[in-house]
Amino acid sequence: MHSPRELLQRNDPELFAALVGEEERQATGIELIPSENYTYPEVLATLGSVFTNKYAEGYPGRRYYGGQTYTDAIERIARTRARRLFRCEHANVQPLSGAPMNAAVYLALLEPGDTVMGMDLSHGGHLTHGAPVSHMGKLFRWIRYKTDPEAEGRIDFDALRSSALAHRPKMIVCGYSSYPRDYDYGPFKSIADEVGALTLADVSHIGGLIAGGVLANPFDAGFDLVTTTTHKSLRGPRGGMILCRKEFRKAIDKSVFPGLQGGPHMNQVAATAVALGKALQPAFGDYCRQVLANALALARALLDGGADLVTGGTANHMMVVDCVRSFGLNGRVAEETLDAIAITCNKQVVPDDPNPPLRPSGIRLGTPAATTRGMLEPEMKALGTCMVEALRSPGDEESLGRLKARVQDLCASFPAPGVPG
Ligand SMILES: Cc1ncc(COP(=O)(O)O)c(C=O)c1O
Repeated sequence: MHSPRELLQRNDPELFAALVGEEERQATGIELIPSENYTYPEVLATLGSVFTNKYAEGYPGRRYYGGQTYTDAIERIARTRARRLFRCEHANVQPLSGAPMNAAVYLALLEPGDTVMGMDLSHGGHLTHGAPVSHMGKLFRWIRYKTDPEAEGRIDFDALRSSALAHRPKMIVCGYSSYPRDYDYGPFKSIADEVGALTLADVSHIGGLIAGGVLANPFDAGFDLVTTTTHKSLRGPRGGMILCRKEFRKAIDKSVFPGLQGGPHMNQVAATAVALGKALQPAFGDYCRQVLANALALARALLDGGADLVTGGTANHMMVVDCVRSFGLNGRVAEETLDAIAITCNKQVVPDDPNPPLRPSGIRLGTPAATTRGMLEPEMKALGTCMVEALRSPGDEESLGRLKARVQDLCASFPAPGVPG
């Protein structure tokens, strides 16, 4: 009897080689992309389970195919755990990922041509918040708000309010991919109430940190809807969830299925349930506190090394380094330089970046994955010091080789869960 892994190795050596290569890359280097994490071994097991064989169009108790005893059970478990974690009335756990999750919300509650407000992409917003290249960007009329460089890069609520009063949006989206501060939900809610707009918080990046109780919950400020991906700080499988008050339940569920999707990926729903179960345990709160402490420690090491951080630092799990200002390098060169020392990050536009997205001014860093490996403040300091050294002399092969060995040594002491070393 061969294990599934042995079968793959024997029957598809080409694919197997790529799998082993990726395992080695993940084991020997460190992941500092803030939207990534190492998921739980139990999640990997559930993702690769027989739930992937099952069609389950519809919702528990109302399916279009037979044989739903266990699919109904896992979806109910996932929904109950999500409601408990986020203290909300309804959870839809079927969105295949973050982009269809947000599309499902817009298509449920807006008409084509309606006005929506979202953060400008270079100031931290996500593509799904109305970037002109996205379908949602074309379907609705998006008004962008920005951060204020005079106020350390915090959101400019005076400008946001004036714009909302002028354009009367039907929905205001609060939520970001590269905004390194906590989200201040109160002002959004009062501006939205003033103009009669719905409030959506897309907490894809920080969903885990809210579930773990270390960042504010938008429902406490009276938000109507919250969306989150499940694979970032929540440590689950790739996927999305829509959380809302019960008055939106029918519209949201209809929008996800049959509006936008067909059969849900039940292996993913099962794996989401597993991750949400983990997030309900007290240890997850400790993990989240450490993610924040590690981000502060990494930011401190970078600032001490002369790095220029957008907004001057961080209050969540991520930071954006302006590499042009700090080291005279664009983000692409910085990303490649860190890759050469076994640190993975991603190039990133900075607010009103004069440089193009494939050669932007910055990089984005985050601590959820490193924290999952068990790294603490001293390791963050060590990584920050290595990064500064590398970015100061990106052409010095000898120094890069030395730094890579140091990073790989560190990684060897902190194995990534679920990743064969
Ligand atoms: C704020 C935000 N919303 C939505 C998404 C989209 O998620 P996905 O890549 O799973 O489609 C992301 C992904 O990075 C994100 O950061």
